[in-house]
Amino acid sequence: MTKILIINGPNLNMLGEREQSVYGDTTLDKINSAAVRHGSSIGLEVDTFQSNSEGNIIDTIHTAGNTYKGVIINPGAYTHTSIAIRDAIASVEIPFVEVHLSNIHNREDFRRSSVTAQVCVGQISGFGPNSYILGLEALKGMLGE
Ligand code: DQA
Repeated sequence: MTKILIINGPNLNMLGEREQSVYGDTTLDKINSAAVRHGSSIGLEVDTFQSNSEGNIIDTIHTAGNTYKGVIINPGAYTHTSIAIRDAIASVEIPFVEVHLSNIHNREDFRRSSVTAQVCVGQISGFGPNSYILGLEALKGMLGE
C-alpha cells in the first residue's frame, strides 16, 4: 500500500481541550484514527507524527521521502512564521498538502498568510477534522495510486 505521513505541529496535541469554539472537541487521537481508517479504505497506509518542536518537525520532513509517497501537514502556528519548515518542505521531492482545522483566512490577520503553503501542492482549510480526510483524497488523486 502507498504510505502517507500526517505531520501535526505545535499545540495540536491539545485538541479536544484547547479553544473548543474554534477547533471543536475532537482529540488528535480521534482525528488520527479516522485518517488511518479512511486511508486504508482508499488504499493508503497512514502513519502519524506530532511534535511541538520545530526541529523535530524539520528532521521528520527531511527523512519522510525515504518511506512515504506524500505528506499531509498541519504546521499549526508555524504555518505563519517558519521559514525553516518551509525550506525543509522545499528540500524534499514528495508532495505535501497543507491542512488546517479552522479557516485561517477568516480569522486574525496574522493567520491569513502561510509561508509553508507556498511550497505545498495546495491547502485545505476550514473543514475541521474532515480537512485531513480531504487531504488524503487530494494526495490519492495526485499520486494516482
Ligand atoms: C491551525 C491554525 C493555526 O493558525 C493555529 O496556530 C493552529 C491550528 C488549524 O488547524 O486551524 O494551531 O493550524
